[in-house]
Amino acid sequence: MNDAAADLRFVPLDAGDTATLDAWLRLTEDGADGVPLSAAPPCEADLAGSVRFAPPGTALAGEVAFLDGEAVGAVRLVLPDGAPVAVVDQLLTASKERRQGIGTALVGRARALAGDHGRTLLVADVVQALPGGPARDEGPAAFAAAVGATPADGPEGVHQWLDLARHDPLAGGVPEVPAGYRLQRWGTITPDGFAVAVSELGQSLGESRPETWGEGPEAIRTSHVRRYERMRVGRGRRAYHVGVVHEETGELAGFTSASKTTGNPEHLLQGMTVVAAGHRGHGLGLLLKLANLAHVREYEPSVRLIETANADDNRPMIALNEAMGFVPQERFVSWEVPVVPAG
Ligand code: ACO
Repeated sequence: MNDAAADLRFVPLDAGDTATLDAWLRLTEDGADGVPLSAAPPCEADLAGSVRFAPPGTALAGEVAFLDGEAVGAVRLVLPDGAPVAVVDQLLTASKERRQGIGTALVGRARALAGDHGRTLLVADVVQALPGGPARDEGPAAFAAAVGATPADGPEGVHQWLDLARHDPLAGGVPEVPAGYRLQRWGTITPDGFAVAVSELGQSLGESRPETWGEGPEAIRTSHVRRYERMRVGRGRRAYHVGVVHEETGELAGFTSASKTTGNPEHLLQGMTVVAAGHRGHGLGLLLKLANLAHVREYEPSVRLIETANADDNRPMIALNEAMGFVPQERFVSWEVPVVPAG
């Protein structure tokens, strides 16, 4: 370990410690690489809120590395409930302090934090270029390999972007709603009448049967969507939804969700779209997404850039996105390394 790494002081990232939180925000803003159609610019309200509000079913653990009183690095882990993994949410060295061993020291802290929480495997999504796609920095993958990580088995993620200035999928309007269905809009908070259905569809990806949706205690049945909403509100995000209701049964046949941070008026994140297994094959997925884009544009006229991501084996959804004008820009490769180093 060289001098810089040996002299680091690690401070927990804690929402109540405003000095450390501010230093972390500046570091994260400094570390944003500004590559077009990669990540949206950091939003301070979203980042600060993320320290208090973890995604549903997870806890967060993070530390900021200081050198001579300056924040020079940070590591943050997402700890899914009851799983053996710790997912690296952030591992960042200040741009002017790279190649001095700080990143390697951060991996050491990640291992220690993961071990403290009983985890055996560290997992990280690393941004890499798609074959034939736009160039991406090869440093992160080289770094992952240098610290002993290896690409995991299983599908990669495909990060896709739609630039509305280049292609407007609403030029031809929103398609007609098939007979027997109606659309229903809502905002950040899901109406009580749909909370169970949205939780079930979201968690089962449309595979759970509606006749089972009424089982179990209300607190469990609705907890997923309500916890998700609490995170969004805590991060200052606004969400837009369209659902499709099967008129004969009154069931929610599917929904789609898009959300915005406070700080980036141009950027929209296209989140989950799910159609229940029994209602597929009617064009509802594309209808939902286009109807929701029309919904978003009514309230967020500055939106221009929309990002979304899917597993690369989810060909139907990637094809649907391509039909809307989304273009694959980069891939997310999952790398993993045991918490306890081999040897
Ligand atoms: N190109 C090629 N190899 C690299 C690079 C690079 N840009 N950066 C690090 N490495 C390899 C080298 O083998 C290096 O050893 P060397 O300097 O003796 O040749 C070794 O990794 C260790 O590098 P460190 O100095 O410990 O790492 P650093 O402090 O520079 O941080 C990091 C590396 C975190 C990737 C930094 O460039 C960064 O913050 N990038 C932006 C954020 C990011 O992409 N994070 C994801 C990291 S991947 C993951 O989390 C598994």
